[in-house]
Amino acid sequence: MDTQLDIRQNVSLKDYSTMRLGGNAAYLVDIHDRNELKQAVAWAEQAKLPVLMIGGGSNIIWRDEGFSGLIMVNKIMRFEEQQEDEENYYVTVGAGENWDSVVARTVQKGMTGIEALSLIPGTAGATPIQNVGAYGQEIAQTLVSVEVFDLHTKQMMTIPAMDCAFSYRNSRFKSGDRGRFLITGLTLHLMHANPVPPFYGEVQAYFEQNGIAEPTPQALRDAVIAIRQAKLPDPATIPNTGSFFANPIIDEGTLAQLQADNGGNIPHWPQPDGSVKIPAAWLVEQAGLKGVHDTETGMATWQNQALVLVNEHAETTAQLLTFKQKIVDKVQATFTITLMQEPELLP
Ligand code: EPU
Repeated sequence: MDTQLDIRQNVSLKDYSTMRLGGNAAYLVDIHDRNELKQAVAWAEQAKLPVLMIGGGSNIIWRDEGFSGLIMVNKIMRFEEQQEDEENYYVTVGAGENWDSVVARTVQKGMTGIEALSLIPGTAGATPIQNVGAYGQEIAQTLVSVEVFDLHTKQMMTIPAMDCAFSYRNSRFKSGDRGRFLITGLTLHLMHANPVPPFYGEVQAYFEQNGIAEPTPQALRDAVIAIRQAKLPDPATIPNTGSFFANPIIDEGTLAQLQADNGGNIPHWPQPDGSVKIPAAWLVEQAGLKGVHDTETGMATWQNQALVLVNEHAETTAQLLTFKQKIVDKVQATFTITLMQEPELLP
């Protein structure tokens, strides 16, 4: 082996989840390039240990039992752009790049495509896993391909976006092929142009308030930053992992029944396939659980966005899961809808 891996032992995973909960990793190593990645995988194989790759830990909940294998923290950096013509750009980034700085760099160059995904915490390589989306954009819309290391074949390969099985907050990396591929980089197709309306309601309202008639990518980024900062707690200071539940997708018949039972005022967004998405935040708030501080567990729901669970003084994931269950049970009892957890529970 040409480089020496700096493998640490018994590392607290609290420092690798923005919820700041979880047990220890038996082994943990920072990975800076593909060569180190291959060496780390070979090391773990020899030691007969499972491996997991993580980015910034902003969508991960670690079990209290921790992880008895090797955690690889993705620090693979790269930022390359290729111009096809006046409008079309291809940007290839390392999976370990901070996502928001990738967004900032593309916006500075006047590119549209990911500016509504501003201020999402975490790394670039994590975005395809749950098909990150916000304010009308979704990574699946601009992603060309994902570069991965396949733990089955021990080969690097490029997976085109159409083979990633993207859907709302999901992909093959989170479902059928969970744990199989280690993401090392992404290529995005961005346009040197202004973003195209219609815009998400709150974004449109921001443009109107600020007299912006023809928003640039920078204006859309500014709008999203303002909206997020007003509503969402910063995980650097208040431990949280963003939305804790996915927005339920139900059929029209179920919605009609729910509307009949609830005075007809449930917000909802029709989906292309005829189903409807309803806001989990609304369900949690209507169940009377917005801004609650749970003394039993040390957990709370955020006062400005009911879908965000924050860790005020919980010490274990068990406490978080107890609080989560209280919410799931109350929403189930009120609306007969079962909320599904959105951040990944690992391992
Ligand atoms: N609402 C409430 N109470 C609340 C907050 C919202 O009733 O406390 C209702 C309102 O009707 C509002 C609707 O819920 O119109 C939607 O709220 P919001 O715009 O805040 O979006 P969301 O559906 O709760 C989703 C994503 C967010 C993303 C925003 C903006 C999911 C699970 N969450 O939240 O993503 O930033 O849209 O596009 O899809 C994340 O995944 O971690 C995340 C923060």
